[in-house]
Amino acid sequence: MRPIVALLCLVAAPLAAQGPVPELPGAGRPVDVEAHRARRAQLAERLGNGVVLVPAAERRDPEKDVLQDGDFRQDDYFFYLTGIETPGAWLMLVARQGSVGIVTLFLQPRNPFVERWMGVQLGPGEDAVRLTGIEQVLAWHPDSLKRAVRGAEARGGVPFYAVMYPGTSGDDQILEWLMTDREVRNVVPVMDSLRVVKDEVSLAALRRAIAITTEGIKAGMRTAQPGMHEYQLEALIEYTFRDLGADRLGFPSIVGSGPNSVILHYDLSRRQMQAGDLVVVDVGAEYAQHTADVTRTFPVSGAFTDRQKAIYDLVLETQDAIIGAVKPGVTVRDLNRIARAHLRDHSGDRCGEPDCSRYLVHGISHWLGMRVHDVGDYGMPLEPGMVLTIEPGIYLPDENLGVRIEDDLLVTETGAEVLSAGAPRTTVDIERLMQTAEQRQATGSD
Ligand code: GLY
Ligand code: MN
Ligand code: MN
Repeated sequence: MRPIVALLCLVAAPLAAQGPVPELPGAGRPVDVEAHRARRAQLAERLGNGVVLVPAAERRDPEKDVLQDGDFRQDDYFFYLTGIETPGAWLMLVARQGSVGIVTLFLQPRNPFVERWMGVQLGPGEDAVRLTGIEQVLAWHPDSLKRAVRGAEARGGVPFYAVMYPGTSGDDQILEWLMTDREVRNVVPVMDSLRVVKDEVSLAALRRAIAITTEGIKAGMRTAQPGMHEYQLEALIEYTFRDLGADRLGFPSIVGSGPNSVILHYDLSRRQMQAGDLVVVDVGAEYAQHTADVTRTFPVSGAFTDRQKAIYDLVLETQDAIIGAVKPGVTVRDLNRIARAHLRDHSGDRCGEPDCSRYLVHGISHWLGMRVHDVGDYGMPLEPGMVLTIEPGIYLPDENLGVRIEDDLLVTETGAEVLSAGAPRTTVDIERLMQTAEQRQATGSD
């Protein structure tokens, strides 16, 4: 028992028996039951026959872990198939000839002592059946899961599947037990190929995460000024995320000014920003376990210099060229080639000889979804429903001049929709927003 719990439990009176649970207690937001049923059906269709075991995440321990804010984040694969944020649960899904057979959700029994500390939890029972749309909800115990596994096995020699992250397979006790006498296959590649094409539930979460993120960036543009520290700008942006309902950050915010603008994943945010600096702001709010990933680069004092504008416009035109090429059938490799070819052909003398492409020092795209660098095979040609970033940059360390512009795109039947278009992207639009905000501050008007 953790010391603080031990101390306070001396004064905590036992709770009365629990009544009916309110809407989705300890399980997160209401579940779109039909959408999650459709995801399970898709998985069964892919697998044909098999028994899939997917554990939820465990609670984290603030005494041991270094946490951002101590909150629980569900395992992505479990969340994808259930939509619930309850810790310590398991899902067992039986696929038979491409259809879903029995689905069983194992939930920790409710515990008044734990609930006094952590809030009401979703436990086994009628409420859980109704709220999750899963017909069989049993109390979690290793023996009850093992019984269910043996039952499924007895009903027909099916392969077993489990979630095995690279390098971690077999270190869980249940998984070890399962693997002792059986061949267990990894369900991750199949689930990743489903996750890479977003359904409506994922898209709604992504749209919201991205809308929150663009508002945070705009708040940053309105407020930035010489003398401010990077951490103050970061705090303002992250405040805006939480103020607008973000659950957490999708990744550590990057707020790099002047010399830090050329450090790709700069993380310290301690520098005091100076007039004449550009600041690269690469941030993402997370909402409903989906994250945005948007970058804007802007002048701390509200106006680009001619040199900054020249580099910025080259990055912007490169991004336009890549975005114009996004459509079904194209690969991420093609997009990288287009970016480099554009820089080769349009740099002029902006970076000296031979051209600016050697200052683009990273890939220009990755999948986006439940993770910032989301799962999925990069050799796959684009399909409608995929979401990816487009993020060219030029980094000139000798000039302390880094520019990255990153947007989030949904592939459509004919091209792409820029989901992050709400954040100003041209030098004219950025300056207009920053200077209007400055005038407002100067005149004290709203
Ligand atoms: N924010 C990290 C990246 O753009 O990949
Ligand atoms: Mn990115
Ligand atoms: Mn980014």
